[in-house]
Amino acid sequence: MAVLVTGGAGFIGSHTCVELLNAGYEVVVVDNLYNASEESLRRVEEITGKKLTFYEADILDRERLTEIFQKETIDSVIHFAGYKAVGESVQKPLEYYYNNVTGTLVLTDVMRKNGCKSIVFSSSATVYGDPEVIPITEDCKVGGVTNPYGRTKFMIEEILRDLYVSDPEWNIILLRYFNPIGAHESGRIGEDPKGIPNNLMPYVSQVAIGKLKCLGVFGDDYDTPDGTGVRDYIHVVDLADGHVKALNKIAEMKKNGADEVKIYNLGTGNGVSVLQLVHAFEKVLGRELPYEIKPRRAGDIATCYADPSKAKRELHWEAKRGIDEMCRDSWNWQSKNPEGYSK
Ligand code: NAD
Ligand code: WQD
Repeated sequence: MAVLVTGGAGFIGSHTCVELLNAGYEVVVVDNLYNASEESLRRVEEITGKKLTFYEADILDRERLTEIFQKETIDSVIHFAGYKAVGESVQKPLEYYYNNVTGTLVLTDVMRKNGCKSIVFSSSATVYGDPEVIPITEDCKVGGVTNPYGRTKFMIEEILRDLYVSDPEWNIILLRYFNPIGAHESGRIGEDPKGIPNNLMPYVSQVAIGKLKCLGVFGDDYDTPDGTGVRDYIHVVDLADGHVKALNKIAEMKKNGADEVKIYNLGTGNGVSVLQLVHAFEKVLGRELPYEIKPRRAGDIATCYADPSKAKRELHWEAKRGIDEMCRDSWNWQSKNPEGYSK
């Protein structure tokens, strides 16, 4: 029995494939390589010394997906595939809704037609919008999302909830990630953004390697200890491990019957400001990083961090790595692969 990993060649997907293979799972990856390279999967095999099966395929391609489900014995699906750039989603809402929402509709329809009704979905802390309460628990209000990308996540959550109501044989887990950064400690796989990065950590590491000149810090007048935005950064390997724990939970749900769609925050519970992250990175680097204070970025909130206690209680999962290890591993990846996966 295999796990199908959609978007498995991407940043979080590739790290999850490592943890799944290490845990003894058989892994089948479907990825259209829109934002990834097959090289990441070659390196997953190199790190683990194990093989996985890769299909270069689009989750929107119903016929292809059906063929894959008929050929492989898929027990459950971890669904990462999707577009994820917040700013771009404002410019290209139709593309985002089509790829993320329709892609999930096609995937889940093919799954049920092939008797596979277990899915772990990559959701995001973005569904909480500007949170009313910090730290954020899974019971906090969702839906006040300010951009199309975030709304795709919110809509997919709703769709999966409706699907469960229509057919309680489904086992569904929604994982709401906070801010994944870092890389595998080998330095062989990591985040490889195309063009100028939108997110803080890849921007910082490209300034460190000299590809970008200076970090812009978006606002220093927030109501936070040093005035810069506070986030819950989580090491991608901890996040990947959370998926293995979610599959254990799915196995339990299959055995005992699922009584609801399960939702878990995957974060550390620690808030780190932009400047704290910059200084932690400087410590790893042994030199200062150039930065300048810029105006606030539209749509940003002051503070966002998780209450991860439900995942600890029910998934027996907890993030182990701190911000220093996240910076160390991001820099290890960036410095060993200045051009990412491209030669
Ligand atoms: P990523 O872009 O590295 O990975 C997504 C993968 O999906 C890519 O490999 C891409 O080629 C593939 N893909 C996209 N559309 C596809 C399609 N139609 N068919 C097949 N493959 C397709 O992104 P990531 O950072 O690894 O994120 C993985 C998931 O986690 C995404 O759903 C993302 O929205 C979600 N997420 C990410 C973050 C983050 O900050 N990185 C935070 C919260 C949630
Ligand atoms: C972090 C902090 C910025 C860049 C985004 C998505 C969210 C989720 C994770 C997918 C903020 C500041 C950033 C820079 C800066 N993705 N910053 N200079 O915005 O918390 O979350 O990624 O689901 O949906 O919105 O992450 O890394 O962009 O920003 O000062 O060049 O760093 O203002 O305070 P964010 P981020």
